[in-house]
Amino acid sequence: MSGTASEPAPKLVTRALTVADIPDVLAIEESVYDFPWPRRAFEHCVRRGYHCVLACEQGPREEEVCGYAVMDVQPAQVHICNVSVSTAHQGQGVGQFLMRTLMCHARMCGAAHAYLEVRPSNHAARAFYDHLGFRQVGLKRDYYRAQVGVEDAYVYRRAIGSGEDIP
Ligand SMILES: CC(C)(COP(=O)(O)OP(=O)(O)OC[C@H]1O[C@@H](n2cnc3c(N)ncnc32)[C@H](O)[C@@H]1OP(=O)(O)O)[C@@H](O)C(=O)NCCC(=O)NCCS
Repeated sequence: MSGTASEPAPKLVTRALTVADIPDVLAIEESVYDFPWPRRAFEHCVRRGYHCVLACEQGPREEEVCGYAVMDVQPAQVHICNVSVSTAHQGQGVGQFLMRTLMCHARMCGAAHAYLEVRPSNHAARAFYDHLGFRQVGLKRDYYRAQVGVEDAYVYRRAIGSGEDIP
């Protein structure tokens, strides 16, 4: 995040992800995953009322999409389906900002737990979720496609509203 002396630095904000944002989202999705979600998966989530959030840097004249997250709000729990940050914006707190937004919404919905799946080989994401207080509670065999064959998923879970907020 940088600005010139005459222009304020861009501000990181979240807003609802709409169908119009899907091209920007797909550009990130296809650059950070070997097996990206297709356009129809995002269209499905937006149209079916999943909680879909965009993180953007808003400058004086334009906004830049930095990342996004998709969460399915279910009775008593939420399923985090996708959290992604563009390569250029990783390591700057954008993912944590997105997760804080999701957990705030989950709490307002009365959810007791959040859960998600992550590839055992995705060490960065596992470190990210560990940092945010998620813990592994299960395993789904042969859950993901892999470059060779399939890969299991670790199921991670975190309590919501226990007073342990995401920093
Ligand atoms: C995983 C991902 C969402 C993290 O987002 P991010 O904006 O880069 O992460 P943040 O900057 O908010 O990091 C928050 C904390 O998570 C941990 N963390 C994040 N990335 C990490 C990495 N590569 N290695 C180790 N720890 C990491 C750190 O503890 C970090 O806190 P710190 O900066 O004070 O050390 C992002 O790297 C990403 O989009 N990766 C590709 C897509 C993906 O794998 N998504 C998850 C699928 S399950």
